[in-house]
Amino acid sequence: MGETVANLGLYGLGTMGSALALNILDNGFGLHVANRTHSVVADFVTEASKAGLGDRLTPHNDLDQMARDMPSPRAIILMVPAGAPVDAAIARLVPLLGQGDTIIDAGNADFNDTRRRTETVEAEGLTFIGMGVSGGEDGARNGPSIMVGGTPQAWGAIRPMIDAIAAKFEGAPCADHLGSDGAGHFVKTVHNGIEYADMQLIAEVYGLMRNGAGRSPAQIGQVFEKWDKGALQSYLVEITGVVLQAVDKSTGGPAVDVIQDKAGQKGTGRWTVIEALKMGQSASTIEAAVAARGWSAEKETRIAAQGILGGHRGAVSLPDQDYEKAFLAARIIAYAQGFRILAAASDAYDWGLDFARIAEIWRAGCIIRSALLDDISEAFRGDLPQGQLFLASNFADTLKSAIPALRRVAGAAISAGHPVPALTGALAFVDTMAQARGTTDLVQAQRDFFGQHGFEHIDGRTGQHGPWWDA
Ligand code: 6PG
Repeated sequence: MGETVANLGLYGLGTMGSALALNILDNGFGLHVANRTHSVVADFVTEASKAGLGDRLTPHNDLDQMARDMPSPRAIILMVPAGAPVDAAIARLVPLLGQGDTIIDAGNADFNDTRRRTETVEAEGLTFIGMGVSGGEDGARNGPSIMVGGTPQAWGAIRPMIDAIAAKFEGAPCADHLGSDGAGHFVKTVHNGIEYADMQLIAEVYGLMRNGAGRSPAQIGQVFEKWDKGALQSYLVEITGVVLQAVDKSTGGPAVDVIQDKAGQKGTGRWTVIEALKMGQSASTIEAAVAARGWSAEKETRIAAQGILGGHRGAVSLPDQDYEKAFLAARIIAYAQGFRILAAASDAYDWGLDFARIAEIWRAGCIIRSALLDDISEAFRGDLPQGQLFLASNFADTLKSAIPALRRVAGAAISAGHPVPALTGALAFVDTMAQARGTTDLVQAQRDFFGQHGFEHIDGRTGQHGPWWDA
């Protein structure tokens, strides 16, 4: 039997909730469950019993009854949609719980909400944990990557259970306590931001091969399958290989061709960008990915624009090796930009984030798991010039050899009219950063001209004004 300090409950038996509940039961822990709709609880009991896990399960008709019936100390995991449903569940639980009890929000919460909830719940003498869980349904069932925010004591109480249910990388759990209050949910949000960027980069490379070179999805899928055995090895590249080679039963053609090209988003990519900008950071690859999803959803406008402006898409013919290198360089920049946001947040919220550890717990279970993360954790354990991942010697070497290919791919795409905002976003970041003197001297001059904003002189004097203000 699994051992943990608290008695466990889980509220919200949707796809992710029931998968996580089965995972907990499977690891030998007793579990109380409840759901807003009662029939779902009955269905879950049947499913758990079929899997031989029914004896450790205690079903309840609703959340209040579950809280009342559970022996103390209680740790109740909320697996409900982010936002108002979480607040509603907390409002019901707080009066029913007491000292020593814990509420765990395991959804994709906005970390600002998690910080607020931590304060209000802990003011009532309870403990609150904001827990990021990545890996989709399969991860939740068989081992997700888990990012925990809260007090070290709260972490200590749930750690045996979390370590047991988490994905394992070479035997070690891909779960850890990352910092106080919203740290876990923030790291999960940035994980999703990187996920958005990686998915967009893949889609752009696919677009060039498909629309620029006229290759079939299945042929391109084979290329991704091959890449998954090299430096680009990752879950997202692996599933892209599978998806592109899949056939639609009704048409007999590629499965991707029957899918409307309008991307959805629940908010985490957008939150990453919003929080980055608030902290004076920017992440061109993630911004490009969020924007591309937004533009894709404007199908009617795109149809009209193609008619009015013409939808020129010329031929692009480059070797696969160029695409591979371009994608690798841009992927490195996407990860580096994600970690820059984490660094800014760690300072702003005093979380003391351990970046090497974060890279380690992303190596299995989560959606962005990739070969690169091993190198990233190693880089963070060494000396980084200016603390910057993209300047670590191994990444700088890779970038130096791959950037020419990224230029060729981005250049060819732009000339032929294929949109590649994430690839070019990555390149713009590198080109900006790799110039010790850029052109914002002129921006500063303009600011001073129209608003007397003042500028820093190259000799170090601040608050200087240009000759345009001389009498
Ligand atoms: C994960 C995923 C998961 C999910 C998000 C993002 O890490 O398991 O990121 O949390 O896919 O909901 O979804 P959207 O693309 O809908 O924003």
